[in-house]
Order: sequence, then structure tokens, then C-alpha cells
Amino acid sequence: MSSISPQQLAVVVSEAISAISAATTGDELKQVRTQFVADGSPISLINATLRDVPVDEKAEAGKIVGQARGEINSAFAAREAVILQAEEHVRLLAESVDVTAVPSRRRVGARHPLNLLMEEMSNIFVGMGWEVAEGPELENEWFNFDALNFDEDHPARAMQDTFFVEPVDRHLVLRTHTSPVQIRSLLSRELPVYVVAPGRVYRTDELDATHTPVFHQMEGIAIDKGLTMAHLKGTLEHLARAMFGDGAKIRLRPNYFPFTEPSAELDIWHPTFRGGARWIEWGGCGMVNPNVLRAAGIDPEEYQGFAFGMGIERTLMFRNDVADMHDMVEGDVRFSQQFGMVI
Ligand code: FA5
Ligand code: MG
Repeated sequence: MSSISPQQLAVVVSEAISAISAATTGDELKQVRTQFVADGSPISLINATLRDVPVDEKAEAGKIVGQARGEINSAFAAREAVILQAEEHVRLLAESVDVTAVPSRRRVGARHPLNLLMEEMSNIFVGMGWEVAEGPELENEWFNFDALNFDEDHPARAMQDTFFVEPVDRHLVLRTHTSPVQIRSLLSRELPVYVVAPGRVYRTDELDATHTPVFHQMEGIAIDKGLTMAHLKGTLEHLARAMFGDGAKIRLRPNYFPFTEPSAELDIWHPTFRGGARWIEWGGCGMVNPNVLRAAGIDPEEYQGFAFGMGIERTLMFRNDVADMHDMVEGDVRFSQQFGMVI
């Protein structure tokens, strides 16, 4: 038989309470619970000795142990409430949202509609078995002019306002059209050749609603045995219908280019043009001049073919009713986004 001493209880209670009030965080309080409140702590060990207390002391012992446990438990509960509230406050502060702050929204870009359009046009030709080729934008004068049958002092050289690159004796120009890729394709491929070449070109034109000094063209060249103007027209008609629907029409008007003979201006019928349906100049075309074939080492008696080149900005203008070319060159992503968020 043992008895329970009030002094011993008082010590246990005061140790527990000072540990409880020293705890400042939830984690510390958890440790305090294990040490001073839970099973195995001094107060619960004393509680367990109650069953050995002599019967006549039991009631009194039970009462003081119960009071001691009560004191510890309520000190613990009070401390727990204070700590929880403090931690909640800190958490809310950390999570608070400043509704006046400037958002750090990440801008998502979009592929430029001109690139999407060149890809779409190229794909129509790939569907017919043609290849897609590229050429350099900084081009040898020979490819840009001479091989294309522009005479040294031919007025046609000035027809396209050229950016010549210094030193001039290197004979480099910013290509004024995609037609030099005709020559490059013929020199680098076995015949027959069916190639389209989309890309960027440069002219000393002023930027206005329908012109830009840096623009895009898509060139096409087909060299095979027995190709005629009918193949040229059929190919361009197919392109027009694939892009603008079955109602699309094209028209060829006589024109002059040194590298084609005969040459034609290519017009396309715009059925939904704002000011009413009308013909619009799209590009140039013609049968490849025998002199061009000779420059590429091809016998014009054996092989013939056709070539064409159209403006991509112009195509985008009448396909999507873009009234002003400024929008295409300024690089505002909101313009591109109207054409779909292709990235
Ligand atoms: C040529 O550039 C020829 N190389 C086309 C060609 C290829 C003819 C193959 C025959 C055989 P032209 O200078 O007309 O032709 O230009 C063709 C198209 O480019 C024009 O119809 C127009 O759509 C576009 N273009 C011309 N200048 C500009 C410019 N400054 N801004 C935007 N588009 C332009
Ligand atoms: Mg023209």
C-alpha cells in the first residue's frame, strides 16, 4: 500500500504547467504533451498508483489527483488555443492576396500568320509531290539577276529596287525575290524538278498599307519533259481552290519578266472583298526562259517548265481581310493571336 503526497503532486503540476507555458509552437506543445500529459507522464503514473491507495484514503487521493490532472489539462488546452490562433494568424498573413498587385502573368507567344500561311501553301504542293526548298536571303547577284537573264545593264535590274551590300565588288544583294531559288534548285537536283521555295525578300519600298521593304514570297518551279502553259494554269488553279474554296478563280495577264517567256501577271478572284468582289494581283508567272535553263546547264530542247512567285503578305491580306500591312510587321502578339494560338 502506498499513499499519494500532495507535495509531490504540486511539484508535478507546477513542472507540467511551466513546460506548457514555455511552449511557443504546436510542435513544442506536442512534446510537452508526451512528457507531461500523456500516458507514461508523471501525472498519469501517479494516477495509476491510485489503485494501491488504502481504501480509506482513496476518496481524498482520487480527488487531489483528479484536481491536479484537471489543472494540467486545462493549462494545456488554454496554451493550445493560444498557439493555434497565433499560427493561424501567421498562415493567413502569408496566404493573403494583394488584389492591387500587378499580376506576373506569363505571356504566351503565337506563330506568325505569315509563317502559318507559307506552311499551308507549301503543304498543298507537298500533297502534289513537290519538294520544299530554301535559299539564302543574302544572295549572290548572279543568282538574283544574271542567271535569271537580267542583262548587265538591263533596265529590269532597276525594276526591283535592290539593297546592294557593301563592299559592292563582292556582288552580294539582299535577294529581291525568291526566284534565285529556281537556279539553286536546278543546280542541286536531278531532273525532273518540282520545287516550291517560300521565304523572305527585300526591296527598298516604303512601308505603307500594301507594301513593306521586307516581305515574303513563295516561288515555284517545275521542269520536266513536255510541260506547257496549261500545266502552269492548272497548278495555280489547284492552289487557289485548295486555299480559297471551289469558287476561287485565277487569271493570267500578259506581262514581262526576263526569266520567263511568255510571262504573265497572276490575278486571283476575291469573291468576298470588302468593296465588292474583284480581281487582285497575286504574283507573276510564266514559262521558264530557255536562257535560264541554259544557265543551269539544262538543254531547253529536252526540258521545259514553268515558274511562279506570289506575295505572302498580299495573300494574307485578301484571305483574312487584313486592311493594313503595318499589322503584319509590327510584331504585336495580339495580331497573331487572332489567327489561332498555334505555338
Ligand atoms: C517577282 O518578284 C517575280 N520574281 C515573280 C515571278 C516568279 C515571275 C516566277 C515569274 C516567274 P513581282 O515584283 O511582281 O514579281 O512581285 C511578286 C509579288 O510580290 C507581287 O505581286 C506582290 O504580291 C508581292 N510584292 C511585291 N512587292 C511587295 C512589297 N513591297 N510588299 C509586299 N508585297 C510585295
Ligand atoms: Mg508585279
